[in-house]
Amino acid sequence: MRVLVLGNGAREHALTHKFAQSRRISALYVAPGNAGTDEIATNLQDVNPTDTTAVVRACRDNRVNMVFIGGEEPSAAGVANALEQEGIACIGPGLQSTRLESSKAFAKEFMERNSIPTASARTFTSYTDFEKHIRKCRKRVVLKKSGLAAGKGVLESTDTDEMLEFGRTVLESDSLVVEEHLAGYEVSVFALTDGVSYTLLPSCADYKKAHEGSTGPNTGGMGAVCPVPWLEADAWNRICSEVVEPTFSALRAEELSYIGVLYFGIMVTEDGPKVLEFNVRFGDPEAQVLLPLVKCDFGSLCEAMVQRKLAEFPIEISGKSAVGVVIAAAGYPGSYKTGVAVEQLPARDGVFVFHAATARKSGKVVTGGGRCFTVVGMGREHLDALNAAYAAVPEVKFRGAWCRKDIGGKIFGA
Ligand code: AMP
Ligand code: GLY
Repeated sequence: MRVLVLGNGAREHALTHKFAQSRRISALYVAPGNAGTDEIATNLQDVNPTDTTAVVRACRDNRVNMVFIGGEEPSAAGVANALEQEGIACIGPGLQSTRLESSKAFAKEFMERNSIPTASARTFTSYTDFEKHIRKCRKRVVLKKSGLAAGKGVLESTDTDEMLEFGRTVLESDSLVVEEHLAGYEVSVFALTDGVSYTLLPSCADYKKAHEGSTGPNTGGMGAVCPVPWLEADAWNRICSEVVEPTFSALRAEELSYIGVLYFGIMVTEDGPKVLEFNVRFGDPEAQVLLPLVKCDFGSLCEAMVQRKLAEFPIEISGKSAVGVVIAAAGYPGSYKTGVAVEQLPARDGVFVFHAATARKSGKVVTGGGRCFTVVGMGREHLDALNAAYAAVPEVKFRGAWCRKDIGGKIFGA
């Protein structure tokens, strides 16, 4: 197979790393890729992954016969639909199914229609109605911009003025979902699906807040663990039977099934699991801890998905644990510099360093984003993985590099 991965983040580096190990792959491309993917695949750095025409042309030019879409933007731009028309296999949803992620209002209605447990919510399009609701609401709520917002569309606040201001801004261009605040702890659950059946991967958790003790602003994710040591078997079983199974039945019934990844963002509450969000892709940084634990040939697994033979595929997952620590640029999640020279990166057994948006300038790796690397430690037990990751973290050297010091510790609910 000749494979193209779309994206340039650490998630896409982890995907590329998996494909590079596969015996089924004869050519491997990444668009646009980063300095990490460049070492194991061919970067098509001029191809914009959200430009459907450019992606199709790149596939034709390089005789690519399978595309793996990393993030949500190419899916929301219709890349999977364009590839389908060309007869090129694609792992990633078409426009209809992408709405599960790209419209929180759509996802909420889908869950309500199908009795999938989630926070109760109301969607607003008018500021006057929203203001009335907020002023009389006695319960704690969370505000969400309906459309894609790259992790910046949610406000968790108890300050009425701040909520009204956020709502006013969102309503200028989008609808606004106001939902009940849920207490508990969060887990990320990933299912691979071939549109007919699905396979669940081990549980993950991501550390969304910028600072230790889950304080500070939301980020794209400062670290992740897989599997989640504090997720009990009973809670996992309830997630499978009360959330995952009904969701896939509903997707089939509503003809929204697709070939790809379905990500359930779940709050485990005292009343059981409730869906916070759906995403139609792997999480970042969850992919960086999850993918190294996939033991079977990843190319063959993906081939089974596009041939709709996932149910027959003997997926093999390592019994090890993984902990991933994100190394961020000074200033992130506020403004930060890019193009900072990276002086050193770790090279240790049992540790992976996945790049995000890095480039190579005059032979040196330079940073290109706010979250620059994910350092992933692996081990027999969770603590071994945690120690392996943090032992390697100081070996990532560039000016201003920082990370959370408590990744791997239990995330307590609000
Ligand atoms: P979302 O993009 O919907 O997953 O929201 C981003 C983050 O906001 C989640 O990962 C949670 O940490 C938080 N969040 C979202 N919805 C709720 C809710 N209903 N109750 C509590 N926290 C929430
Ligand atoms: N880790 C959160 C996300 O990928 O949306």
